[in-house]
Amino acid sequence: MKEVVLVTGATSGIGREIVKILAPFYEVLIHYNQNYVEALKLKEQLETTYHRKFLIFKCDLSSEKEIDFMLERIYNEYPKIDILINNAGIAIDTLFEDKSKENFMKTLEINTIAPFLLSKKIGLEMRKNQYGIIINISSTNGIDTLYPESIDYDASKAGLISLTTNLANYLAPYVRVNTICPGWIKTDMNKNLSSEFIANERKKILLARFGEPKEVAEVVKFLISAKASYINNSIIRVDGGKKC
Ligand SMILES: NC(=O)c1ccc[n+]([C@@H]2O[C@H](COP(=O)([O-])OP(=O)(O)OC[C@H]3O[C@@H](n4cnc5c(N)ncnc54)[C@H](OP(=O)(O)O)[C@@H]3O)[C@@H](O)[C@H]2O)c1
Repeated sequence: MKEVVLVTGATSGIGREIVKILAPFYEVLIHYNQNYVEALKLKEQLETTYHRKFLIFKCDLSSEKEIDFMLERIYNEYPKIDILINNAGIAIDTLFEDKSKENFMKTLEINTIAPFLLSKKIGLEMRKNQYGIIINISSTNGIDTLYPESIDYDASKAGLISLTTNLANYLAPYVRVNTICPGWIKTDMNKNLSSEFIANERKKILLARFGEPKEVAEVVKFLISAKASYINNSIIRVDGGKKC
């Protein structure tokens, strides 16, 4: 049987590309929250292409109850999850002066706490099975690309990097845990940026352009493959190179 991979936030941007790139080689589970239409479209596209079933799983990752319910449904279908890609994320950019506790908490819930809960619940099973891989999609915002407008997002992504190190240590030697830190990637998350802001950000990137979702998905594919069998507890930047 193919290895089972759960990809969170698979309805758009980076997550959708991860699903598409892994689909020929893995049993990919498509997670979504609000975007049922896109989840169904992706499922149908993959089923037409590969002539086998692809399952979609709805879950609001801010609710532990819903996470438990999703895992129950997954374990009803599959004996185990071999690979977890914590990709789902949100950014609520506002002026620093308008930052609220509510927005900060919401951002932490989705970007940091949900990956923790999934990694704990699935990671412990992986350790029991003596095999597993976890990839956390953080951001260069979690390392050194900070903005007051996204102070909550930046903190949530720094937290996710810290989580990776902790998990890699606790789940060793059976589970490899790595972080990918994309820079600017062309997805819906960035659809409201002004052309002036984009032009200014491009100047800070050595490759002078924003990345494509597929360029992140390719790194995920490599990191979960046997070719990356000795890469563990690492932070991989996929950002076109930061100018210094
Ligand atoms: N784009 C970038 O420039 C960039 C840079 C660095 C890091 N990243 C990170 O890469 C990851 C993917 O980003 P993206 O740009 O592809 O984002 P995106 O296109 O906005 O997609 C976000 C995904 O997260 C899911 N999601 C949002 N809230 C959720 C909730 N409450 N429960 C469950 N799922 C939820 C969405 O599902 P539904 O639509 O079904 O609700 C959607 O599939 C994120 O973690 C992001 O922080 C992105």
